[in-house]
Amino acid sequence: MPQSVPSGAVLLAEGLSVLRAHQARASRTLSLIPAEGIMAPVTRLPLISDLYARYMFDEDPDPQAGEWRFPSAKDAAWLETGLTVPLLARLTGADHVNVRPLSGLHAMEMVITALGGPPGSTIACLAPAQGGHYATADVARRLGHQVAFLPGSSMHELECDLLPGFVAEHRPTLVYLDQCHALHPLDVTPLVKAVREASTNTLVHADISHTLGLVLGGALPNPLAAGADSLSASTHKSFPGPQKGIIATRYAAVARQIKAIQPQLVSNHHVAAVAALGMSLAAFADHAAPYAHTVVANAQMLGKELAHAGWDVVGAEFGYTRTHQLWVASPGQTSAETAASRLYEAGLHVNWLTDLPFDKPGLRLGLAEATWIGLTPGDMPRLAQIMTAAVAGSRPVGELAEETAALRPRALYPYVRPLDADAVQDAAAVVHAVLGEVAR
Ligand SMILES: Cc1ncc(COP(=O)(O)O)c(C=O)c1O
Repeated sequence: MPQSVPSGAVLLAEGLSVLRAHQARASRTLSLIPAEGIMAPVTRLPLISDLYARYMFDEDPDPQAGEWRFPSAKDAAWLETGLTVPLLARLTGADHVNVRPLSGLHAMEMVITALGGPPGSTIACLAPAQGGHYATADVARRLGHQVAFLPGSSMHELECDLLPGFVAEHRPTLVYLDQCHALHPLDVTPLVKAVREASTNTLVHADISHTLGLVLGGALPNPLAAGADSLSASTHKSFPGPQKGIIATRYAAVARQIKAIQPQLVSNHHVAAVAALGMSLAAFADHAAPYAHTVVANAQMLGKELAHAGWDVVGAEFGYTRTHQLWVASPGQTSAETAASRLYEAGLHVNWLTDLPFDKPGLRLGLAEATWIGLTPGDMPRLAQIMTAAVAGSRPVGELAEETAALRPRALYPYVRPLDADAVQDAAAVVHAVLGEVAR
């Protein structure tokens, strides 16, 4: 008997029930994955609005002139040109920002394509064993470049004395700092100094995909202020924005080089996500510093509590972390994979990795999302207790999942100012219009 194929309507209904269950679980769990940041709900509205379906090739046309090749988003263009771009320029301290990359990795590809020089040029980056991103060297090689790994004395320190000789020997066109696993940021200042002394045509680029929110909030130094020619980032890790990427520079010539390759690497840049980014920047701007400093304080406190509970926590000598990340191995014989799945059952999402400095897989935790929804250092002892009991299997997992749900603050998103009455009406009108179409 041939099996009957479910109709589209049945599959759609099934999809909705999966989505509903996912959403329900999300309201009772915490993501401690450092690559994941959650957006304040109001800033997500562009993603369900009509804007999600639109193109906006035109970057800054005169709205009155007949210059719009794709006019569907013309009435909303301010969300990109008047909100996202100027606010990002203000917060990064850059004169030129590009909001067209789709993600951090895509921004990397754009930067290496634009600034890497002709095929055969050398790109310097971090070795993965030194915390560099797994893809950087391969992306550079695919584009026909040579790769040289920067000399490092530890996962968090460059060998500054060796840098002038390194630059003189390799003459890289681009030094691409791609710190991915990072408990504290590399010092960009001596790197820029060494590069400037040894070479007049080497650019320094800092990829701050993981730490954007901490840099914008002033908890970590801004690489542009330290002399880097440009920076790029994901907008959804320690920065609580949509899944997108950005590039920023103080130099018109660098911005022009990026712009020149843009048409070959981005067509649809997801204008709704750009609008969501602008709204996220606006929501973030008023309390950026307390948020960023609380992220670090939360991560340090959780590191301390886990260490007290017998976990192996990297970085005791510098307070466990200066970023949102913590690198830990659970106590006893439990593997990272088993620990991660027990934590999942207790409502805690973590990711395990093989390239952390343990002799076995370890867990890379992140405290950005938990902080953005409102957890404070006072919550960390409880969180550490739940984690420790879950991994040891010493308490019923259902009970622990209840405790995780109870850790979520009643008043979520404390760093976002409440909306005034007019803004609430505007938000409600968008939601109602979409709901009306759903329930037509
Ligand atoms: C330095 C760096 N660049 C790029 C990426 C990739 O970012 P995305 O996942 O947004 O593409 C990451 C992700 O961890 C990263 O750490």
